[in-house]
Amino acid sequence: MPVSTRTMAVQPNHLTKSYVLPLFVWFITSGISATHAACSKMDQQSLFSSFDIASSSLNWSSSDCCRWEGITCDMAGRVTHLLLPSKRLKGVISPSLGNLTHLTHLNLSHNILSGHLEAGFFLSLGRLQILDLSNNLLSGELPLSPPPSYIRTVDLSSNQFNGTTPSSFLQRAWNLSNLNVSNNLLEGQIPSFNCSYSPFLRSLDFSHNDFSGIIPLGLGNCSKLELFRAGFNNLSGTLPSDIHKARALEEISLPSNKLSGAIGEKIANLTNLAILDLYSNQLSGTLPLHIGKLSRLKLIILHFNNLESFLPSSLMNCSSLTELNLGFNQLEGDLSVLNFSKLTQLIKLDLVNNHFTGPLPISVYSCKSLIALRLGANHLEGQLQHEVLSLKSLAFLSLSCNRLTNVTGAMKILKDSKSLRVLLLANNFQGEEMPDGDLMVDSSGFQNLCIISLSRCQLTGKVPVWLSKLKKMKWLHMSLNRLTGPIPGWLGTLPSLSFINLDNNFISGEFPKELCRLQALRSEKAATQTGDDYLELPIYHISHNGIVLQYKNFSNMPPTISLSNNSLSGNIPRNIGQLQRLQKLDVSFNKFSGNIPHQISNLRSLELLDLSRNNLSGEIPASLTSLNFLSTFSVAYNNLQGQIPLGTQLQGFNATAFEGNPGLCGSPLPNKCPKKSPGDSDTTKDQEDVHDSGNGIPWLQISVTLGFIVGFWGVCGPLALSRSWRYAYFEFFSNVVDRFVR
Ligand SMILES: *[C@@H]1O[C@H](CO)[C@@H](O)[C@H](O)[C@H]1NC(C)=O
Ligand SMILES: *[C@@H]1O[C@H](CO)[C@@H](O)[C@H](O)[C@H]1NC(C)=O
Ligand SMILES: *[C@@H]1O[C@H](CO)[C@@H](O)[C@H](O)[C@H]1NC(C)=O
Ligand SMILES: *[C@@H]1O[C@H](CO)[C@@H](O)[C@H](O)[C@H]1NC(C)=O
Ligand SMILES: *[C@@H]1O[C@H](CO)[C@@H](O)[C@H](O)[C@H]1NC(C)=O
Ligand SMILES: *[C@@H]1O[C@H](CO)[C@@H](O)[C@H](O)[C@H]1NC(C)=O
Ligand SMILES: *[C@@H]1O[C@H](CO)[C@@H](O)[C@H](O)[C@H]1NC(C)=O
Ligand SMILES: *[C@@H]1O[C@H](CO)[C@@H](O)[C@H](O)[C@H]1NC(C)=O
Repeated sequence: MPVSTRTMAVQPNHLTKSYVLPLFVWFITSGISATHAACSKMDQQSLFSSFDIASSSLNWSSSDCCRWEGITCDMAGRVTHLLLPSKRLKGVISPSLGNLTHLTHLNLSHNILSGHLEAGFFLSLGRLQILDLSNNLLSGELPLSPPPSYIRTVDLSSNQFNGTTPSSFLQRAWNLSNLNVSNNLLEGQIPSFNCSYSPFLRSLDFSHNDFSGIIPLGLGNCSKLELFRAGFNNLSGTLPSDIHKARALEEISLPSNKLSGAIGEKIANLTNLAILDLYSNQLSGTLPLHIGKLSRLKLIILHFNNLESFLPSSLMNCSSLTELNLGFNQLEGDLSVLNFSKLTQLIKLDLVNNHFTGPLPISVYSCKSLIALRLGANHLEGQLQHEVLSLKSLAFLSLSCNRLTNVTGAMKILKDSKSLRVLLLANNFQGEEMPDGDLMVDSSGFQNLCIISLSRCQLTGKVPVWLSKLKKMKWLHMSLNRLTGPIPGWLGTLPSLSFINLDNNFISGEFPKELCRLQALRSEKAATQTGDDYLELPIYHISHNGIVLQYKNFSNMPPTISLSNNSLSGNIPRNIGQLQRLQKLDVSFNKFSGNIPHQISNLRSLELLDLSRNNLSGEIPASLTSLNFLSTFSVAYNNLQGQIPLGTQLQGFNATAFEGNPGLCGSPLPNKCPKKSPGDSDTTKDQEDVHDSGNGIPWLQISVTLGFIVGFWGVCGPLALSRSWRYAYFEFFSNVVDRFVR
């Protein structure tokens, strides 16, 4: 819709200009040009009529259009090159462009051009060799007439073209080398490419459209094809059976489709292949046995498929590999029998969520370039080896959800890793003791650690003192352990800490007032000053209902304090109102008493507030109704009294959010509040108004919730999985706090 409005708005404007401006310019300049082959009159006219020049950054005022910016002419003064990328050109591309019949190069990329291309757009541009209209707002169907036979490059990417691609589109294109239609709204089958007609084809990019059906045969004839991309479509069927004949291929990228079947042995014939990116499909079978023949392979990205059985030992011969991602498959076998030592270039190794067994493979520590290593959610056992310290660049280590033992040993080793930023060890070490004591405290260990998860380990002991030295710590996750003792006040002194989860422990004492000083929860500035935002691998959260979230940045994590299901008592401190950035506050299932501090309403970003199952008393502060982002809320099972404050916010929640408070009354609870004295008639009226407009209230709530979901998903980049997912995997969160990312 916005596009067509734009088109309508611009067209009249451009029509007037095409009559007035050219004539005007022609009159004042016609006497001057004599010394060089002047621009053809007709071309000059056509140029002026083609765009809305006035609103662009072009200075087309001299008499000779061959000297204009972006324009090149031939000897006869005919325009051959029109190169105007990033010139803020607006409006439609007028048919008069077609009068530039000598045009060979047309580059109008990165402008704001909109509207359709005429069905016969290419008809009169019979000499065109290079066409780049990428990164505009062009829409409608692709031109029916195919590009001329001279064409070498067609880049229509990053527009809003829709409809099917006419099968004629690639015919006649004898010299076509590069075709890029990625990032549009094209549908139907990918046009079949016949390399007996286009023998020079080098690069095909169909990604980020809505193409469906199978990938047509024909690629096999493309002896010069180096790159084939069609990821993020709806393609099904197998990899084309002739793809292994395209021997020049260096990149095959088809992620996020519905491709099935095996990758096939023959792919090992593509000895130039450097990138094999097929993640998030339904590929099954084993990895090609002879994949080791592909000595140039740099990236193998195959996560979220159904690959099964053992890793071929020849994979360890792919010595150019920089990234190997086989996570979320059904692969199995003892990892320690593989010899990783030839993979000296490997930067990222991700084997998460498979069925690998055996001890942690010691040869992996000879991959000296490793920055990120994830072996989580397998059946690995034994202890972390000291040799891990030979990975001098290791910044991301996730071994969550295995059967590792000796957490004290592991932490004593890892504390000496100078580069480690992310350490995820959840769901291991069952029932051991939280490492603590002198050896940990005295060292200057973990000096770069930002994230630590030791949740779901049933560890005993206390919140360990060595944490107090980790000044870069941002996220601390120790839920589902058996920790006792208080929440130490020094947590409040960690300058970067913005995520604390101590749910489901046996922690007692009060809510430490010092937590209200957490710098990174108080000011945006402190939060953004805390270093590099980039996570070396995304952190996944996959819920039971198949929603996959991936966190790619530190800043995506909602600022959180979660202390649910402990034995905390005393008041909720009033100073909590200082933690302005807090988005999630959960103190449910504790023994907090006293009033709900009205200062909680200062927490303007709050999306989740759970105070349920405590012993809170008094009234619900009226100011809570100003928390506009609240989408999960409960004060159930406390000792609260009086009327639930009126305002769209709180009434939008279910009655269950308020139940279990015998003294509480008013909407959304079924029990009406007792009638007030006549002096209070205004309040009574307000309440009736709310009841009358009852229909409107849920809607408001819904729109708030939707806003939250959209915003959240936008930030975290949900993975569009092509089927409902059967695993649940909680790399950082645990399932009891599933609602945290709901
Ligand atoms: C446009 O270019 C002409 C010479 O080609 C120059 O005289 C004039 O100042 C330029 N105008 C602007 C606004 O830059
Ligand atoms: C078009 O111009 C842009 C900006 O200079 C350039 O990056 C791009 O490669 C050009 N397109 C073609 C097909 O040459
Ligand atoms: C292909 O390009 C070559 C070299 O630029 C040219 O000589 C030839 O005429 C072109 N072929 C067609 C069919 O346009
Ligand atoms: C195609 O265009 C998109 C964006 O317009 C770009 O990101 C991509 O790299 C291009 N593909 C090729 C093969 O150059
Ligand atoms: C790996 O490469 C070496 C040397 O090129 C070769 O001898 C060996 O057979 C290969 N191993 C596998 C499993 O392909
Ligand atoms: C735990 O690991 C440490 C360090 O590797 C080691 O010294 C200790 O003996 C291990 N403890 C057990 C019980 O294996
Ligand atoms: C609270 O923790 C106890 C003991 O760890 C557990 O049995 C119980 O299920 C937990 N309650 C909730 C609501 O998670
Ligand atoms: C709840 O708080 C009240 C005072 O407000 C106190 O009398 C009562 O003992 C508390 N109940 C529990 C279970 O702590």
